[in-house]
Amino acid sequence: MQKTTARAYSNIALVKYWGKQDAGLRLPMNSSVAIALDQIYTTTTVEFGDQYSKDLVEIDGDQFSDEESQRVIDHLDRVRKLVGIHLKAKVVTKNNFPKGAGAASSASGFAALSLAATKAAGINLSQKDLSILARFGSGSASRSITGGVSIWYTGQNSQDSFAEAIELPKEWGLRVLLVFVGNLKSKKVSTTEGMARTKATSPYYPVAVKEAGKNLQRLINSIKDKNWSEFGQVVEDECYRLHILCMTTRPNLLYWSNETVAIFQKLLNLRDHGITGYFTVDAGPHVHIICQQSDADQIKSDLGKITGVNKIVDCGISGPAQTIDQHLF
Ligand code: PMV
Repeated sequence: MQKTTARAYSNIALVKYWGKQDAGLRLPMNSSVAIALDQIYTTTTVEFGDQYSKDLVEIDGDQFSDEESQRVIDHLDRVRKLVGIHLKAKVVTKNNFPKGAGAASSASGFAALSLAATKAAGINLSQKDLSILARFGSGSASRSITGGVSIWYTGQNSQDSFAEAIELPKEWGLRVLLVFVGNLKSKKVSTTEGMARTKATSPYYPVAVKEAGKNLQRLINSIKDKNWSEFGQVVEDECYRLHILCMTTRPNLLYWSNETVAIFQKLLNLRDHGITGYFTVDAGPHVHIICQQSDADQIKSDLGKITGVNKIVDCGISGPAQTIDQHLF
């Protein structure tokens, strides 16, 4: 058993996943697409061994709850079952960004854990099988295994619900500006709970799932046609689709803050002047802006002036989850 460390990158959904057709298998209602971000990542070291009488889990020092640690242990159980071992493990994980605040830590977290734990347990899974395994930890983690720009297929069963990388036109020189706003505390309702609530209570859910399918096709066509403005329009349509669902959930889920909307307004204003940054938001107040390299500096400078904008991280597109040599213990 070899101590192993892996790094995986957070991803921001362009076509959003919100709700499951099968909660046990974590099969999503619709296929989704995301971009993985090279500046926002999780690093995880795993070691199995008979020196551990129980699983020891540490996430960002002591910044984690019993529930989070249990999710890690449940994932270790999946790996133990796959490999046929009973050894306990030590897991140390570090995020280079605030957890649970809309920069998807569960995506990079379960992708890094899946890769580190399987290698530490002595098996080498294919990228497809790693993506399937990561999906059981957190749906969006399936897309952090592949990194880059990835599509995660809905699937009819566990084996055909996995992510695969797709290409964007190189000449777009795409950047993602992650704008952190307001306070960075953890969100109160988990995505798992939020999705289940939306599916059960939003009157718009059935129509919104159909829209997701149409928007996926529009996004793929815009990539094929190298149609930047249509690509951006789909990204924003998908942002609104997710948040309309959240807002019409009972009890309502409102993730946006004043700053979130102020950023939207500023970007719409800049667009009138030919600067095209398209916004999208996952389950938190922070805004991800999809733009071209040539517009990035102007957008950063203008958004930096908005009160309540804490930090802007300028990201490129990351590669897949990978093992690294620097262990965390
Ligand atoms: O896989 P989870 O539980 O982290 O949920 C992800 C949900 C969104 O980030 C809002 C959308 C998505 O497709 O990533």
